[in-house]
Amino acid sequence: MSAGDSFYIATPIFYVNDVPHIGHAYTEVAADVLARWHRQRGEDAWLLTGTDEHGQKILRTAVANNTTPQEWADRLVADSWQPLLETIDIANDDFIRTTDERHEKAVATFLQRLYDDGHIYAGEYEGYYCVGCEEYKQLDDLVTAPDGEYKGQLVCAIHSRPVEILKEKNYFFRMSDFGQKLLDLYESQPDFVQPASVRNEIVQFVKQGLDDLSISRSSFDWGVKVPWDETHVVYVWFDALLNYVSAIGYGVDDEQFAKRWPAVQLVGKDIARFHAVIWPAMLMAAGLPVPRAVFGHGWLLVGGEKMSKSKLTGIAPSQITDTFGSDAFRYYFMSAITFGQDGSFSWEDLSARYQAELANGFGNLASRVIAMVNKYFDGEIPTLGELTASDEAIIATQKRATEKSNAYIDTFAINEALSSVWQLVDELNGYITEQEPWALSKDPANRERLGTVLATTVNGLGTLAILLSPVLPKATEKLWTAIGGVGELREQRIDDAQNWSHSGRVTALESSLFPRIEVDAESGTA
Ligand code: MSP
Repeated sequence: MSAGDSFYIATPIFYVNDVPHIGHAYTEVAADVLARWHRQRGEDAWLLTGTDEHGQKILRTAVANNTTPQEWADRLVADSWQPLLETIDIANDDFIRTTDERHEKAVATFLQRLYDDGHIYAGEYEGYYCVGCEEYKQLDDLVTAPDGEYKGQLVCAIHSRPVEILKEKNYFFRMSDFGQKLLDLYESQPDFVQPASVRNEIVQFVKQGLDDLSISRSSFDWGVKVPWDETHVVYVWFDALLNYVSAIGYGVDDEQFAKRWPAVQLVGKDIARFHAVIWPAMLMAAGLPVPRAVFGHGWLLVGGEKMSKSKLTGIAPSQITDTFGSDAFRYYFMSAITFGQDGSFSWEDLSARYQAELANGFGNLASRVIAMVNKYFDGEIPTLGELTASDEAIIATQKRATEKSNAYIDTFAINEALSSVWQLVDELNGYITEQEPWALSKDPANRERLGTVLATTVNGLGTLAILLSPVLPKATEKLWTAIGGVGELREQRIDDAQNWSHSGRVTALESSLFPRIEVDAESGTA
């Protein structure tokens, strides 16, 4: 991709029936890191996130809380979902709510178009529905509860709660027409669904044949009205998926739409089917391009189970950021978990990595180098003299870290990108230990060599500030200021990070990049 290209990335939009937990924040951070990375390549990156506010789940939550669904949604968005973005330092370009007028209008336009083109017909739905999933279920999606409150009843395998039996007049989308077209898409664009595990599951699912999809409900009215029949509201998933196009001007701003669409879509693997089957079928029916890619990431597990509020394993992001800060939150989830696989969260692992990698690894490196330039050169960054093999090795690592991390980002391997950058952190620490600048400083005859060693490490810090800025925006900003970086850090080209060099002055770091945190040995929390 070349400079100036558009890079549009979207997160799923989040249900406002409850407050955010770290599983939601995980998707947000990954999308934000990718958006920031692409922005630093000079691309016109656009990050969209937002909230999913219609449907029975929200309606019932509002009723249970003695309020209207609109009031409930307004409150949750203002008190919980928008503040989440600040808590974890998300630089989104837009925030869409499915109750926005711009969205509701786009849904009506899209639906009318499908109806006019014969992709929609009236019928009757008879079958199971899980309100927790907001999904029509087949018998083999259900299990008989082995024990507990619902013992012996048919329950949703995900929510462990009884499903409802629906018998309603509904409108249907002729999704069955798109089975072969979808299989052709997966074949001709093998990276459309990623990673391979999710792709295989999706291909298997579509190969079994697709049914038509009920896309309206008539037994409640919290949703977008079907434009030709106001006794129906649009099925919440059909409504929600359209946020990705309604937010960029579908049907009203053709120029913006053409500039941004298609998007890269990050979703949890639990909702990959909606995004990799239903969504491209809808787009094909409307004659629009399908997403560039749908990436299904893994789950955060707590105690071996998918973390969720309904199973009482939910952890609020602020529980972590209040102690460790937003940078550590971002770094931990992006580096400790292979993106695309499930990963277990534990407080012990978080605090161990904070201490070893951020405080002792990166933070200490920055403080030591800056302190030595201040001490031995009065803050003036020395110039490079003759280079030894050890200096050349650092320069080679700067180059390798830049190239590899950029290549890994193109395959969504965020954790691999970070570990390529961390090789530079580790090698710089090893280089300082080996070169012993404090020993060189003792003999004026070694002045030039001391200068070369410190200039090499300052250059390394510059490369690190640029490469780590998408993941650690706050700490790298502090570092950038301390090493006298010229211009805005977020405007430094990340694909050219190895070439950073500077001959100005360092200032003192205002405080350690990652302060020591006293951790309770038993709980792992501070
Ligand atoms: N509203 C739908 C999405 C509609 S998009 C058109 C929805 N919302 S959600 O709030 O339930 O989930 C949003 C995202 O959070 C999903 O990608 C989901 O996978 C993710 N996660 C929820 N719990 C999670 C974990 N425990 N771990 C990782 N991600 C998790 O689905």
